Amino acid sequence: MLQRLKELEAEVRKKIDDADSLEVLQSIKQEMLGRKGQVTAILRALGDVPSEKRPLVGKKANELRDLIEKLLYEKKQSLALKAQEERWDRERIDVTLPGTPFLVGQKHPLTLILDEIKEIFCGLGFQVAEGPEIEYDYYNFEALNMPKDHPARDMQDSFYINSNVLLRTHTSPVQVRTMEKKVPALPVRIIAPGKVYRRDDDATHSPMFHQVEGLAIDERISLADLKGTLLLFAREMFGEEKQIRLRPSFFPFTEPSAEVDVSCIICNGKGCRVCGQTGWLEILGAGMVHPRVLEMSGYNPEKVTGYAFGMGVERIAMLKYGIDDLRLFFTNDLRMLRQFG
Ligand code: PHE
Repeated sequence: MLQRLKELEAEVRKKIDDADSLEVLQSIKQEMLGRKGQVTAILRALGDVPSEKRPLVGKKANELRDLIEKLLYEKKQSLALKAQEERWDRERIDVTLPGTPFLVGQKHPLTLILDEIKEIFCGLGFQVAEGPEIEYDYYNFEALNMPKDHPARDMQDSFYINSNVLLRTHTSPVQVRTMEKKVPALPVRIIAPGKVYRRDDDATHSPMFHQVEGLAIDERISLADLKGTLLLFAREMFGEEKQIRLRPSFFPFTEPSAEVDVSCIICNGKGCRVCGQTGWLEILGAGMVHPRVLEMSGYNPEKVTGYAFGMGVERIAMLKYGIDDLRLFFTNDLRMLRQFG
């Protein structure tokens, strides 16, 4: 019996050693320790062993059973480890390989200029306001002191949806909408950036373009405040040494009204091709809010005054970046757009 146990041990050791899968291990277990297993049979047959030998044979048989279990367990572990290592080998990634590049977008030059404009005016305490692009005739013209058939409407030929509704021709209707709401309360200091539409189309005009409106209302606002604010803006946008000048002009909703020029960013005022030898570049329209506009929006023009201005974002961007055709902003030519941002 003891001899048999020794042989079994040698046999099982070899089998386990040679096993190369969990299934083989399972069948070895079955063969040795299962209900009809060889070791099981020996343990069952202990009763037949002469009693003086029984303790020793029993001990050896139990030891063999424990040994087989231990060997099976160890082999199982090492098979699992091997499988894992093989898998790692198969799936190994080279972290030093260059990654898959993905395209990072960048801001459109008009967005860059808009961001700059917002930053400058927000730094002065202005808030950003918005209004609809599809606008009532009332806000676009009427409440801005341009009654029906007013000749000033001709300067801003529009796209009409019906006789009362049109694509706004400027951002000035946001002035009216802001004043009407009385939000923010006095002092009002807002800028209103957005798209506007006119029936124009050439190298310096597009049927859709962008403006930024400015409006300030309070009890003692003067033309000097307007001029100081715009001078600061021009210097922040175009450079410290810039000057501005106000030329008398006309807008139905401001009185007095002015076209505002900045000293030429190319020749700095000496006169060159870009500024048509004048030394100045026109950048925006502005003025003191017309008393009738204040009144129509519910303010008492005896008590409060205000200034307003409106600038074309494309124009500012063309000047700042030296772009000579406004349509380039809208043709999505990446060779052009990639030069910014
Ligand atoms: N809305 C005017 C335009 O588009 C510009 C402007 C705004 C002028 C505010 C004066 C005050 O031409």
